[in-house]
Amino acid sequence: MTLETPLPLHNELAAGSLAARDVEHVLHPSTHLKNHVSSGPTISARAEGVYLWDSNGKQYLEGMAGLWCTALGYGREDLADVAAEQMRKLSYSQLFAGRSNEPSILLAEKLKAMVPFDAGKVFFGVSGSDANDTQLKLIWYYNNAIGRPQKKKVISRIRGYHGVTVASGSLTGLPAFHNEFDLPINGILHTSSPHHYSEAHPGETPEDFASRCADDLEAMILREDPDTVAAFIAEPILGAGGVVVPPPTYYAKIQAVLKKYDILFIDDEVICGFGRTGHAFGAEAFAIQPDTMSVAKALSSAYLPISAVLIPDAMFAAFAERSNDLGNFAHGFTYSGHPVCAAVALRNLEIMEELSLFTHARQMGIILQTRLREFAEHPLVGEVRGEGLLAGVELVKQQQPRTPFAASDGVGAYCAKACEEAGLIVRNLGDTLAFCPPLIINEDQVHELIDKFGRGLEATYAWVRKQSLT
Ligand SMILES: Cc1ncc(COP(=O)(O)O)c(C=O)c1O
Repeated sequence: MTLETPLPLHNELAAGSLAARDVEHVLHPSTHLKNHVSSGPTISARAEGVYLWDSNGKQYLEGMAGLWCTALGYGREDLADVAAEQMRKLSYSQLFAGRSNEPSILLAEKLKAMVPFDAGKVFFGVSGSDANDTQLKLIWYYNNAIGRPQKKKVISRIRGYHGVTVASGSLTGLPAFHNEFDLPINGILHTSSPHHYSEAHPGETPEDFASRCADDLEAMILREDPDTVAAFIAEPILGAGGVVVPPPTYYAKIQAVLKKYDILFIDDEVICGFGRTGHAFGAEAFAIQPDTMSVAKALSSAYLPISAVLIPDAMFAAFAERSNDLGNFAHGFTYSGHPVCAAVALRNLEIMEELSLFTHARQMGIILQTRLREFAEHPLVGEVRGEGLLAGVELVKQQQPRTPFAASDGVGAYCAKACEEAGLIVRNLGDTLAFCPPLIINEDQVHELIDKFGRGLEATYAWVRKQSLT
């Protein structure tokens, strides 16, 4: 394949600089590839606590915990020591063919004790995406094992995010992750997004809207035939789809439908797990009764990659029953139960307990949510939403009636950049600015975050007016 017009390197990227070498060699995930060639990267150089410095020495308050993951903040010596010690003692061992290692055993035990449902076994992976791929495979394997091979479809939600691999990318309900990748695969369906603000009919209450979402789900199940639908997957709060907090009665109504048709609830706690919502798990914040659960990200505070899938004993029993005729349970990764990742994750969870981090996150979350709502009347702000230390501020062209900006206006992206200029890292999901600071953030730092966001928002407002976008 030849590229007819090679993309020109931006002449401001000094030849041989790290930035120029990045542009030359690195294929960046979730990046506008053509723009990146001219703009080049912002290179992170070091980080400590809730602050990060780029290669020009500029300091930022980390308002996104990396990619929703650095719960304990950056640069902890104790976690570095645990990793180094484990590397020296046993740098690798697999869990295949019945081998095991102490950190994985202890971590599995700890996770089972923490989650708010009766988990029987823990399967380890390295990312949220592979955890959700594993979820699908386990549910298919389970339904085959218990003699209902036709019950295989999985329902996800529009605007849900569950990863990017072939199955988890299909579960993701955002068109950008499907377009031109030939996704979703067959057997994965997407039901309504539970966002009252953007989806409700005029005058529809959150309760009525939640009932309509549950009715949509039931209609889909009946249309597909309940005997063919195996599971429903949900993040308690939808993260990458725009920090969408469903109405209070939503999950009770959804779970009633799932129960009626014997459909499992896969709880994707990859963002919400480990204190993010001010509760240990999002399931507790929303009274969800999971059948299985995926965790990653804050499981290790991103010091090392690790994920886990938790399943009930009944599923394990059905798998084990098939051992005689199938032989090995033939699923697993080279790095399932990597002892260094597991040791770091275990210590990470212990530190969270020692710091009473979930209570701290709840307290800081109240301040963050209250202070962000001070922007609710700002002419650019349509909705402020969130729970705990997870929040979204949606920018609109006009508040009443709600009128979004055209995607091509790039208002959210401008605002994220303006916040960066002000020394705050946030992420724009379309025109929603997402906030997800490390859970260790203190009160002064929450106020600092708000001040910096205020500056970014004002700069955006000035730009929007100058461009005559409102
Ligand atoms: C809820 C949720 N599930 C799954 C994933 C995928 O995780 P990973 O990027 O580690 O594959 C993400 C990533 O942001 C996520 O937010």
